[in-house]
Formats: sequence, structure tokens, C-alpha cells
Amino acid sequence: MSQRSRQLPRRSCLSTPGSSDRFLAKAPSATADFSFLDLEDSVAPKEKVAARAKVVNALTTLAWDDRVLCVRVNAWDTPWTYGDVIEVVGNAGERLDEVMLPKVRRASDVVALDLLLSQVEANAGLPVGHIGIEAQIETAEGLINVEEICASSRRLESIVFGPADFAASIGMPVTTIDESIHQGPSNPFTYVFSKMLMAGRANGLHVIDGPFLKVRDLDALRFAASISASYGFDGKWALTPDQALVLNEVYSPSQELFDKSFDILDAYKVATDENRIGAVMFGDEMIDEASAKIANSFVARGVRSGMTRSPK
Ligand code: GLV
Ligand code: MG
Repeated sequence: MSQRSRQLPRRSCLSTPGSSDRFLAKAPSATADFSFLDLEDSVAPKEKVAARAKVVNALTTLAWDDRVLCVRVNAWDTPWTYGDVIEVVGNAGERLDEVMLPKVRRASDVVALDLLLSQVEANAGLPVGHIGIEAQIETAEGLINVEEICASSRRLESIVFGPADFAASIGMPVTTIDESIHQGPSNPFTYVFSKMLMAGRANGLHVIDGPFLKVRDLDALRFAASISASYGFDGKWALTPDQALVLNEVYSPSQELFDKSFDILDAYKVATDENRIGAVMFGDEMIDEASAKIANSFVARGVRSGMTRSPK
């Protein structure tokens, strides 16, 4: 549920096709911070309706740990969205944390889902506001409107990039999403990452990178993930349990950075509380209130990921 899941890490967001009983059964054993059961593009049109019951069954009967649990419904430009929400949230809403809405183009797409969720929650005996929303940005129009999208509903917990649909939407000359996008002569994703991050953070949201399609090349995944991680993204979509393991590492602070952050906070406390000085030297670096804010954000990220400070 939304209150709970806002605080949890989302370094690895594992996608599982909702039409596959075999993949659904395996999903809880993957070491992922976040699992979403997909009713959208990994499910063939002829399986869309049947997949809903499989997703309900997986959400209500499998042994999930405390990870964030999400279902990706179909987009509003299909015939399936309202049926997905009514059937899945209506029958498995209790353990569900979020609904992911793909191909969000404008704020009203999120508002429509918010209103529908309120009715479904009320009819299912769930508290209104129980389910959070993750908005997927994967069209040029969605990116242009991302600021208003991020401010459109109190249910929003996160935004996630959809690089494959986005590449199609803007006419990028690529056939897959791999590391070469970040190495070419131009890289439109730098603009996407900056814009999504600012809009998300201005509204207190988690910001998540999308899938990496060359699934067997974990080194290339590590490289691509390190780029959005360097912007400050919280995590990335995983298509396999092995990808999730790499992402858990890439989006956690290193132990060195985590320990250094505690040391900065200790030194800053002594400087301000005992010596009444706002800016002091920490080794070769000057630290002040802003350094303490940065250190606090690394500490929070590490603690959310289960890290502990090394003994002195
Ligand atoms: C994911 O939905 C993508 O389009 O990349
Ligand atoms: Mg997509």
C-alpha cells in the first residue's frame, strides 16, 4: 500500500509477464526491491483478459516478501485499462502497493486513474488512497508534460522511463535499447534523464530508469545503469533476476561513500554544535550545510537498502 511503499528502495524493478504462470511463480524468489506484474506490452492481445486472473492469483497466493508490489495495466488508448484496474485492484488490492500506468501523455491520464481507483477501493473495502500510482513516461508528449504529470495526483509515488516506446515515439534510428545509445554521437536520453529527474524530485517522487533489452550482457547493463545512477535515479527496470542483482549494486552507495557520509555528518555536527562554525575542512574538502544534506541523502539511500556503517 502506498504509505508503506513510499519508504522502500526501488533499485531493481523486476518485470514479469502476467500471462505466464511459470514466470509469475518464479518472481517472488528473485532478489528485487520491486516486482511488477505486467498486463501491457509483454502480454499478447489475445491473452490480455485471461492474464488478469493469473495476476490476481499471483498477488494473493504467492509468498511475497516485503518488496513493493505493482501491476502495470494497459494504457488509456486501449480497450483494457478499466477492466484491468477493476479486476486486479478489486480482487487483489490489499497487498498491491501501486498501479503502473504506461504511455502517460498528460496529467488528466493520471487523474482519470486516480478517480477510478477511488471507486474500486471503496467497493473493495479498501481505504481510499491505499493504492499508489507509477506514471510511465515514454512518448514525446509525456516528456513535454512531465512537470504537470508529476504534480497531478497525491497517489503518485514514482515515474519510470520507457526507452523502447520513447525511441519509437521520437523516431530514434535504433532497433534495441542497449549501451550504444549512451555512446553515440548524440544521446537524447541525457535530456530525458535531466527533465524526468527534476520533475520527479520537485514533487518528491522516486525516479526510475527503464529496461535494458540486451538481457544477457550484464557488463553492458552495468555501464548503462551507472549513467542514470550518476544523475541520481533511484533504480532501473530489470527483465531477469540476474539483471536485478546488478542493479541492486549499481543503485546502492558504495560502502566507502556510505561510511564517508557518516564521517562528514559527525564532523559537521562537531563544527556547528561545539565550535559554532558553519564551514570547516574535512580532509582536503570544505564542508558546510549543503555537504551535510548530500551526506544525509547517501545515508538515507544506504539505510533504505539495508547497509550499515563499518566499524571504526
Ligand atoms: C517500456 O515499456 C519501454 O517502452 O521501454
Ligand atoms: Mg513501453
